[in-house]
Amino acid sequence: SVPIIRTVTELRTVVAGWRRSGATVAVVPTMGALHEGHLSLVRAALQKADRVVVTLFVNPKQFNSAADLAAYPRTENQDAAKLGPLGAHLLYVPDGEEMYPAGFATTVSVAAIGEGLCGAFRPGHFDGVATVVAKLFLQTAADFAFFGEKDFQQLQLVRRMVRDLDIPITITPCPTVREADGLALSSRNARLSPAERAVAPRLASILLEAADRFTRGSCVLPTLAEARAAILSAGYREVEYLELRGEADLQPMTNVDRPARLLVAAWLGDTRLIDNIRTSPV
Ligand code: PAJ
Repeated sequence: SVPIIRTVTELRTVVAGWRRSGATVAVVPTMGALHEGHLSLVRAALQKADRVVVTLFVNPKQFNSAADLAAYPRTENQDAAKLGPLGAHLLYVPDGEEMYPAGFATTVSVAAIGEGLCGAFRPGHFDGVATVVAKLFLQTAADFAFFGEKDFQQLQLVRRMVRDLDIPITITPCPTVREADGLALSSRNARLSPAERAVAPRLASILLEAADRFTRGSCVLPTLAEARAAILSAGYREVEYLELRGEADLQPMTNVDRPARLLVAAWLGDTRLIDNIRTSPV
């Protein structure tokens, strides 16, 4: 099974040893409760680098409510058991004190990219993500980092941060892993009732239909309005946002004249689900 370490000092010692032997290092940041989406990142990392560190830290700074933080699944033993057979080299599991010792006072904040979409509905969330990801990059000193397109705004935020702060790491995006019925894998899917689980994949299929209509030249605003209505009539309780944004800069778009992403966050009962899909002009 995969070795587990819990302190920055030990992490640095192990990574320094790898580097002396000429090995390259990749990091896969996670909050645990590992599913096939996470494991796909680990596999991609193993293809690219000689050594792969998976990090597991349920980052309190990126949660908006204490209840949500408390409800987050914690399955360290099962997570470690999944990583061993895959061939990951190290599982880094710092505790809250290790990551944010008394007196911790620094926040990394990425303007613009962190502001709309999820940033508008989850105040402080992306500052928490940027701060912890910057720390994980500096702690691991990895050459490569792997992120899922499932969290597209997070991916673009991390890319912007790395460019802005000259952090010497290459960010590799990995495609969203989905269930056979199209539902994007998420630790939150476990919270869905059987009835909700049956409705959930409509979100992905409605995105797909709208993306297809954009490629065939449909007008943006009416298509978005119809897709929003379809999500609600499928049984979702609320659509937080459904927006078309530029793929690279996440700027709002009213014409599909360059590669774009259609991004959504919606509530199914008490569960908030997000998804996104690429769409580009023909
Ligand atoms: P977490 O939600 O655990 O996700 C860890 C990584 O797995 C992220 O890069 C996410 O995009 C990716 N991922 C999740 N579901 C996926 C899926 N269905 N297909 C492909 N990739 C998927 O994202 C976080 O943790 C945190 O914000 C973190 C970056 C670790 C900072 O705390």
